[in-house]
Amino acid sequence: MIFKDKFFLVTQMNLTAKSPILPLTTDLQHAVDRFTPPSPLGFGSVMAPIMAKADYSDGHWSHVELKAYQPLTLDPACKSLHYGQQIFEGMKAYALADGRGALFRPLLNLRRLNESAARMAMPELPEALFMQALESLVYHLQPLIPRGRDESLYLRPLMLATDTGLSLKPATKYTFLVIASPSGAYFSSSKVTALIERQDCRAAPGGTGAYKVAGNYGAAIRADIKAARLGCQQTLWLDAVQKTYVEEFSGMNFFALVDGELWTPPLSDTILGGITRDCVMQIAGTMDIGVKEAPIHINDLIAAIKSGHCLELFACGTAAVVSPVHALAEQDGTVYDLPSLKPVDSISLKLRNYLIAVQTGEKAGPGDWLCPVSSN
Ligand code: COI
Repeated sequence: MIFKDKFFLVTQMNLTAKSPILPLTTDLQHAVDRFTPPSPLGFGSVMAPIMAKADYSDGHWSHVELKAYQPLTLDPACKSLHYGQQIFEGMKAYALADGRGALFRPLLNLRRLNESAARMAMPELPEALFMQALESLVYHLQPLIPRGRDESLYLRPLMLATDTGLSLKPATKYTFLVIASPSGAYFSSSKVTALIERQDCRAAPGGTGAYKVAGNYGAAIRADIKAARLGCQQTLWLDAVQKTYVEEFSGMNFFALVDGELWTPPLSDTILGGITRDCVMQIAGTMDIGVKEAPIHINDLIAAIKSGHCLELFACGTAAVVSPVHALAEQDGTVYDLPSLKPVDSISLKLRNYLIAVQTGEKAGPGDWLCPVSSN
């Protein structure tokens, strides 16, 4: 059962033939050798000194190139700046005990990137190109993969329209990039409170909410600022039509542990089909924890928290992994606290530790998820 509804009909995907790792020039190798990570690392705040790039024009993708990390030159009339043809993915590489870097379920990211591309009338990216870009970067950046607690090499594939002109038409030129950021934990706060957003909406039926489109994230920022002003670290989004059903956090999927069972909203055209969401559901299966994918009325959730039936909430996503959410809050200052659990009693921490153990190669996962990168 992976992305089991029409929005993400993906089963285990297998790699086709492997493309060779691209070589590094001496200059790029020096740039990698000279890189000194800041301390603390933070999340996504420092970029690795090399990136991968390919360009699309005349209906074809160029070969991938490894380049020095550098600013892009964009025409001010470039279509992505005006009409938002911009999509991205979030991925992580961890360092394995044998020194290799490993990607994690990368073909699901490719699948989702191409779903996003189709929704935004952008060109499909071939598997060989995507994998060569990622594997080459992870191979050469392996010494920069941080190994501390909650640390990894965060990878950000992205595609944007680059051709010029203000008429509202699909672009004919695009750039695909992968940048990498040695990163620590996404949440800097040890206690996360999510503000229930009852005015704005993140995604409407028929819109782009199920895809990793840059504008979805931009549209969430105002609510995140409001949340921060109220002392919250996250936004909890409700459905756009009735404003009553829980959808997701900003950039992360939602889970609640109610009466020993995990509740999560079913995927729809307003909820992103998270790869971590799928991992959590499969891992829960191995731990004999039931998962209920059903609409969650916000009032039922609040009642379950108040009555003690709901013991845990967590956000999950590539960046956040599995991050406990300790309270929900309303704009009027009402707070619904979850009980403080001992770490050994926390299901979210068990799921998180299990997932990280699979990602770092310490434990086999329920599927063939790890994709170690080597030169042959
Ligand atoms: C990720 O989890 O990789 C995302 O892209 C979400 C973003 C808000 C960091």
